[in-house]
Amino acid sequence: MPSFALNINGRPVDIEAEAQMPLLWVLRDLLALTGTKFSCGAGLCGACTVLIDGMSIRSCITPVSSVTGKAIVTIEGLSPDGSHPLQKAWQEEHVTQCGYCQPGQIMNAVALLKKNPKPTDADIDAAMADVLCRCGTYQRIRKAIHRVAQEA
Ligand code: FES
Ligand code: FES
Repeated sequence: MPSFALNINGRPVDIEAEAQMPLLWVLRDLLALTGTKFSCGAGLCGACTVLIDGMSIRSCITPVSSVTGKAIVTIEGLSPDGSHPLQKAWQEEHVTQCGYCQPGQIMNAVALLKKNPKPTDADIDAAMADVLCRCGTYQRIRKAIHRVAQEA
């Protein structure tokens, strides 16, 4: 089986996997990084969102062979204790309902604020709308992102 040298949350990691194995499976099944969630498995919902070189991508449709040499960041890599500004804002605004979509939401919000540190409501809606939340937490997500943007 081929091996791949990855950089995950700032650490080098060598894994053996089929080249087409989705990054999501590598994270969850080989490395026990289960903060990144599996939902549709088809690139449609955003539950599996992680950062690759600062851009949000859907790890369920990203082959592991395509991310060697890139900086992969998962929800576990934002902070050791939930103290990243977005994680704190999520708590302060009581964003989470069932919680299943929220790691993907937060990783997508990290990418948004990196690109656009002072987003408008419309910017947030446009960036976040395709990370699906069946609990309908979008209003609180918007408030949490504004909170971080204002505090920055
Ligand atoms: S699980 Fe990857 S987009 Fe839905
Ligand atoms: S909080 Fe339940 S799906 Fe988003």
